[in-house]
Amino acid sequence: MLTPITAVTAADPYPWYADLVRDRPLEWHDGLRLWVAASAEAVTAVLREPGLRVRPPAEPVPPGIVGTPAGEVFGRLVRMTDGPVQQRYKQVVVAALGQPGTDQITALATEHTKHSGTAPLRELMFSVPAQVVAGLSGLDEPAALEASRLVADFVQCIPASATPEQQAGAARAAAALRSLLGPALTEDNAGMLGELVRTAYASGWTELEPLLANGIGLLSQTYDATAGLIGNTLVTLARGVGEVPHEPAGWRAYVREVARYDAPIQNTRRFAATPVRLAGTEVAEGDPVLVVLAAANRDPAANPEPDTFRADRTDAALYTFGAAAHRCPGETVAVTIAAAVVAELLAQGFDPTALDGPVRYLPLANARIPIL
Ligand code: HEM
Repeated sequence: MLTPITAVTAADPYPWYADLVRDRPLEWHDGLRLWVAASAEAVTAVLREPGLRVRPPAEPVPPGIVGTPAGEVFGRLVRMTDGPVQQRYKQVVVAALGQPGTDQITALATEHTKHSGTAPLRELMFSVPAQVVAGLSGLDEPAALEASRLVADFVQCIPASATPEQQAGAARAAAALRSLLGPALTEDNAGMLGELVRTAYASGWTELEPLLANGIGLLSQTYDATAGLIGNTLVTLARGVGEVPHEPAGWRAYVREVARYDAPIQNTRRFAATPVRLAGTEVAEGDPVLVVLAAANRDPAANPEPDTFRADRTDAALYTFGAAAHRCPGETVAVTIAAAVVAELLAQGFDPTALDGPVRYLPLANARIPIL
């Protein structure tokens, strides 16, 4: 019997998610001690509810990293804050991520994939997106490479299951990332870090620490999720699902449908800061809520024929990138990178059908990343 956590890494969690959506759209899970929201309606209601926060109110930063450089960064991330502070950070992050054009992102992702040479897929799918986002941020090639290595250690502090060793490694990585990105955080940097500064200054805000934290946040938000999107696209191709695209826009449409059909981020969490009422159900103050984005993507009330892969869906309801105040501002960047990486791998002669067969996934509680 699956749980919403074991489903993330199950071979095919989708029939089980369909049962959740139909029979238990919002239910208390006794074993996990949290609410589970699965239908499109319940997921939307949770993500729109201001009384549900991204962190437990008594623990804005995980205790193991409080007072460390990792904690300093974590506590200032747009992803990890709520209310007016989050809105202020969100405005600059959205401006920064809107800065690079699709052609620039595609060119950089194609070039980094070419230069990855013989790197195994399981490395390339993590390192290329991080290097591309570091390059778009305005770092030169050696700094972008170093940033992509450091972010691998930094993200280890994010899951609640992080060990003291992982937290210590993340603290060292956060300190190194601050030194690496700090000098690039200037108004005259033509990349995304420069755009963060320009947008903040334009609204009369001059504190650099939150900008630096959110510059690092661009890398950490990219890391697992975009690796999963590349991996799940390769698995979908390996199974012969959908037509193989032939041009960049076709690849982006294919990858966007993969994001719906086999979401790289399957769930996210909220914590009730006050008692809230959701679709007639009382959620008590302090209760955690697991938001099963991947189940909502396949809710027939949101997407007709949800189990059919159709890259030509024009108005798909996509929950993979969240919704409302915390909706992912990196969707276009992520989809464009993944599309360019996969297209370039195939152009180099990589045959995805070589991957066909049973797939295993990294043991993670919210990201679905195949071990390739
Ligand atoms: C396939 C790749 C990606 C997926 C599936 C994904 C998914 C998500 C989701 C679900 C959230 C909302 C979390 C919540 O509400 O609890 C989020 C937030 C965020 N994502 Fe992404 N993301 C991806 C790639 C990226 C990339 C490439 C960037 C930046 C370069 C990025 C930047 C962010 C930021 C800054 C937030 C926080 C927004 C906020 O809290 O207001 N993401 N992402």
